Amino acid sequence: MKKVCIVGISGKLGQYMVQHALDRGYEVTGVCRERSIGKLARFKGRITVFPGATNDSQVIKKAVEGCDGVLTVLVPWGVHNYASGTAQAVLDLAQPDARLIFSCGWHITRDGQDVYSWRVKALVKFVGGIARLLRLIDIDDQVEACRRVFASQTRWTVVRGSDLEEGPSQGLPVWSKHVGDPILASNITRRVDFALFMVAAIENNDLIQEAPAIVGCQTPSAIQARAA
Ligand SMILES: NC(=O)c1ccc[n+]([C@@H]2O[C@H](COP(=O)([O-])OP(=O)(O)OC[C@H]3O[C@@H](n4cnc5c(N)ncnc54)[C@H](OP(=O)(O)O)[C@@H]3O)[C@@H](O)[C@H]2O)c1
Repeated sequence: MKKVCIVGISGKLGQYMVQHALDRGYEVTGVCRERSIGKLARFKGRITVFPGATNDSQVIKKAVEGCDGVLTVLVPWGVHNYASGTAQAVLDLAQPDARLIFSCGWHITRDGQDVYSWRVKALVKFVGGIARLLRLIDIDDQVEACRRVFASQTRWTVVRGSDLEEGPSQGLPVWSKHVGDPILASNITRRVDFALFMVAAIENNDLIQEAPAIVGCQTPSAIQARAA
């Protein structure tokens, strides 16, 4: 049986990943802040939670021990290098052969070949700027986290999410190497399916050292690409 660790397990994406991982018969461990453990009550007895900050290497070390896969939610909260510290701890402490799957948004680019709409550019520039001023989020920290992942020799995948919505699963999202490709034009994915893609990536070796940008498989752009 595979053992996986979910870093940021109590968030919306984390909780969906728990369900997908349990559905696959995986043993599940996870890390979240102590005050958030209550959000995981419905999984009690089926998962092991290590309370603490996700950038605390002592906590990460215990949580990832013996794990074949580590699913990390990279969120740029605050201005204390939280996302980059989290990524670094996972890169340093996971088993060398583990599959490491990280989440982020389309705004992250690996090779500079992504083509962004004015809307995405404006959102990153203005919302990111205001949030940074208010010391709420620091998008640059998520960029730095991903830079470290891209530079690593581990078996990583960085899953880049489109805009998200709630709702029942539509199936495994489709993906492209670059934002701007027509298949991604609809720019919407169900959050439950973002989680599905993350968990499925553990067993998909074609995604090793790839940064797939995803979109829902039932969206108009995905359907159009299939028909073409
Ligand atoms: N939201 C979007 O539209 C969108 C679009 C594209 C990609 N993504 C990506 O999807 C992933 C999940 O995003 P999400 O929006 O769905 O969020 P989410 O799954 O609800 O996750 C939020 C995470 O942030 C933690 N958190 C919240 N406030 C914090 C604080 N002050 N200090 C430390 N941790 C804190 C939460 O932990 P607690 O449970 O302890 O609060 C939780 O683990 C991210 O990697 C994001 O970049 C999101």
